[in-house]
Amino acid sequence: MAKAKEAQVTGRSPAESRVEMVQVVLPNDANPLGNILGGTVMHLIDIAGAIAAHRHARSHVVTASVDSVDFAHPIKVGQVIVLRSEVTRAFRTSMEVEVKVYLEDYIRGERRLTSSAFVTYVAVDEDLQPRPVPPLLVRTADERRRYREALGRRRRRLALAAQAHRRAGAEGR
Ligand SMILES: CC(C)(COP(=O)(O)OP(=O)(O)OC[C@H]1O[C@@H](n2cnc3c(N)ncnc32)[C@H](O)[C@@H]1OP(=O)(O)O)[C@@H](O)C(=O)NCCC(=O)NCCS
Repeated sequence: MAKAKEAQVTGRSPAESRVEMVQVVLPNDANPLGNILGGTVMHLIDIAGAIAAHRHARSHVVTASVDSVDFAHPIKVGQVIVLRSEVTRAFRTSMEVEVKVYLEDYIRGERRLTSSAFVTYVAVDEDLQPRPVPPLLVRTADERRRYREALGRRRRRLALAAQAHRRAGAEGR
């Protein structure tokens, strides 16, 4: 029954995959200066992004690539961070997900953007073979803009990946 329903799906909106994940920074997440480790932020970005991809594809997914990540402000132990993610475009078997990381000042009720990244996930079946995903149905002007821009980012990242494969192949010889 669930499978038959899934086969009828013509697409999903970005809102259907949107994720908001809240985390308190604990001492174990930090370096000796008391700032959260960059690797911990990247780990959380991957988790928040993967959940959005799972929701869109209703499938297992693997991370294919992460575009560059910058860390604009230090985040200290005891502070609260909020990760927001949503699918910006679905291709055949892959999805681009944007993840934004905010530092939340709960006393003032303010959020400040500290990092953002575009992560590509590929939906896979039980044998880890890529499988098709539903299209993303964009409606608002902002959703349409991000959808359009995703194509340029995909072209650039696939060109970079192809370049890296060629280099690795040449070094392996
Ligand atoms: C990602 C992976 C499934 C792609 O497999 P593949 O054999 O290259 O499969 P395909 O060539 O059919 O590509 C499948 C999709 O992945 C996309 N893709 C492949 N490499 C990519 C990359 N570096 N960046 C973004 N997308 C990529 C392709 O564009 C394609 O998308 P589309 O179907 O929407 O057009 C495979 O490389 C893999 O399993 N990698 C390891 C993933 C993993 O374990 N991640 C965790 C960290 S190690």
